[in-house]
Formats: sequence, C-alpha cells, structure tokens
Amino acid sequence: MTYSTLLYEKKDGIAVVTLNRPDKLNALNSTVYTELYDVFFSIENDPEVRVAILTAAGEKAFAAGSDIAEMQNMGPLEIQHFMATIRKASDFIYALTKPMIAVIHGYALGGGCELSLCCDLRICSEKARFGQPEINLGLIPGAGGTQRLTRLIGAAKSKEIIYTGDMIDAATALELGLVNKVVAPEKLMEEAMAWATKLAGKSGPVLAMAKMAINTAVDSDLTTGLNMETKCNALCFATDDCKEGMDAFMEKRKAVFKNK
Ligand code: COA
Repeated sequence: MTYSTLLYEKKDGIAVVTLNRPDKLNALNSTVYTELYDVFFSIENDPEVRVAILTAAGEKAFAAGSDIAEMQNMGPLEIQHFMATIRKASDFIYALTKPMIAVIHGYALGGGCELSLCCDLRICSEKARFGQPEINLGLIPGAGGTQRLTRLIGAAKSKEIIYTGDMIDAATALELGLVNKVVAPEKLMEEAMAWATKLAGKSGPVLAMAKMAINTAVDSDLTTGLNMETKCNALCFATDDCKEGMDAFMEKRKAVFKNK
C-alpha cells in the first residue's frame, strides 16, 4: 500500500504505521486523517495482522497537532467537515478489534496527543512532550481531547492541561496515567516491538473481547459494562483458543493459540 502522508509495513503479524510529514512535525491534515482511516481499515480486515503500532517519522515530533495552515481559513462549516474526517479515523482506530500501541518519541500536541489517546497503549521516550495547546490558538481540542483525555486522567488534570495549554513532560505523563511506560529514546522502538510481539502471541479474538469490555467501561455505566463483560467472556468460551488455554494449563504445557 502506498500513501502520501504515511508509511506502512507489516512483519510477523505486527503492522507499523508511520506518520510521515516530518518537515511539518507530522501535522495532521485531512489527507493524513483520510489515509489513517484507509490504512487501519486494511489492518482491521487483514487476518495476518495481530497487533498495530502507530509511530512517526523525524527527530522532533510524533505529531504537533492538526494542521493549523489547513484550518487557518476555515469557517464553521468547513471545520465541521474536517472534524467529521477526524472522527471517522479516530473512532475507527479506537474501536479497532486489534491491540494498538502508540510509540511517541517527541511532541504529541493537540491532535497528536488526541490521536495517541485512540490507541490502547502509549509508550514514549523520555524526550516526549504532551499537550493540548489549542487554547493559545483561540480553540478547544476538536479531536476528542475534552472527552478521551478527561476519561483517561480525570477532569481536574484535563482542565489544567487544556486551560493552560502548557506542555507536560514524559515523567508527568506517566504519573498521570497518560502513558503506560517511559523509556530511553534509543530503546523506544525495541520496547514497543517487545510489547507487540508479546500481544501477538495471545489469542486475537480473546484480546478483542477484552478490548470491547474495557472500552465499554470507559464509555458507559457500570451495569452496562458488567453486562458487556459477561457477554464477552461467554463469547470467549466459543473459541478454540479458550479450550486450548485451559487444556494447556491442565496438561502443564504452554498454550498455542490459533486465533480461532
Ligand atoms: N500545523 C501546521 N504546521 C505545523 C504545526 C501544526 N500544528 N506544527 C508545526 N508545524 C510546522 C511549522 O509551521 C514549521 O513549518 P515551516 O518550516 O514551513 O515554517 C515546521 O512544522 C516546524 O515547526 P517549528 O514551529 O518551526 O518547530 P519548533 O521546533 O520551533 O517548535 C512546536 C515546535 C511543536 C513547539 C511548534 O511547532 C508548535 O507550537 N506547533 C503547533 C502546536 C499546536 O498548537 N498544536 C495544536 C494544533 S490545533
């Protein structure tokens, strides 16, 4: 697959999507969001892919936000259209049935931070910087930041980040639960691949059930979430992998999952 703003590669069940506008700090314009939807649609429907990684080219940034040059002359109708394009990509990535890891080496600002929030896990370099600087442009976050950031780290810290527009460093992001892990810059991709390889060895359909149940916890009330957990767990029992997992335990051997 060839894209004008992304790179895509696939190896050993792991898909790696790389944002590729380094000269613009990977600013996210409508072409990027359209291509992100396309590539993740392919990933979702590719049975060879078990885990996806989202990363970015260049030294400085994962993504420095939605493309200000593109938004600068938009009116309310155009921005609404742009935001629909953003939502189509973001919501699809968030709901992907496969685990997604964001690998963040530098700035993850505005839409860049919001895009990482659509992923399941975030691993970053000690040099990463996060923020929602839209307030300094006379805007508020428009790619899910007021919602997904708030659900992840709580209203008080979310308000602090969005109201001030100040960046936070990697250690603070870890403390807030915004990222799962911080590593030395030179270890970043190695560590992300180790996580991806570990997840690729689990049962894909069972991971999808875990993801659906957890996302329901984030998006709804406790009873709805517990009902979803019960149904998802019951569905696990319809898989060969569930039988294999329990048989392997009883036979004191390592389970070999077939993603069925
Ligand atoms: N949209 C469009 N272009 C962007 C961009 C964005 N969000 N962020 C950076 N760029 C472009 C710059 O315009 C510049 O392009 P140019 O070389 O053609 O002038 C290039 O990327 C490099 O950015 P620059 O600002 O020169 O890098 P820096 O190292 O001095 O500063 C940042 C880095 C991240 C602090 C700064 O680029 C920045 O504040 N970006 C905007 C962040 C933001 O407000 N995001 C929310 C958008 S809604």
